[in-house]
Amino acid sequence: MTIDRFVELTDVTYDMSALQNFYESVKHLAVDYSEIREKATGGLFSSIRVEDLDGKGYLDYPVISDLVNLFNPTAKAIRDGNIAITVYSPGFEFNPHIDFSRKSVIMFPILPHDGGVGVDYYDNAILGDQPIVSDYASMAPGHDDEFYLGTYNYSTRHPTLMNVSKVHGVRNDEQTRVYLQFSLYDEFSDCVDRVKSGEFFNKDK
Ligand SMILES: [Fe+2]
Repeated sequence: MTIDRFVELTDVTYDMSALQNFYESVKHLAVDYSEIREKATGGLFSSIRVEDLDGKGYLDYPVISDLVNLFNPTAKAIRDGNIAITVYSPGFEFNPHIDFSRKSVIMFPILPHDGGVGVDYYDNAILGDQPIVSDYASMAPGHDDEFYLGTYNYSTRHPTLMNVSKVHGVRNDEQTRVYLQFSLYDEFSDCVDRVKSGEFFNKDK
């Protein structure tokens, strides 16, 4: 897999079933993304945010904080506000885009059990000279074979570090797709260097 987009973090193994149990306990707290973000389509994408967790933060749950403590980013620590569980409804398409603000993300598939559809990646030229800029990303109108480079299927054993400053999107199938995400503000290439040197991980955890 192209190293400038994704790295499977084989130094870390996560317990998918523990995250599935956690998700079952908090899924009633999911907020429709269209209530958070203008231009998002109602009913297709929801997110469980820290302020929804019955007065607790993600870091109050060991199933989450134990994972957070594995990593050692430099630009910004992984706090409650950088953690989210995203829920894509069947058929949801997240159009090709570059993320706003965060540079990299650590992804943990929760559902479906095989991780579901992967992430599609595209040449940045899909955004054109004047990309449509929404409140959270530069976004293309939809999938386009001309710029499509391939699909990365996430491991359900190891988390994946992903470069979100390159264009990516998701075309969900008929299953609900649930992922835990940690947002990072380190450049992806810096993260990769630190993965290789081992500094990206807290070895004492
Ligand atoms: Fe994204």
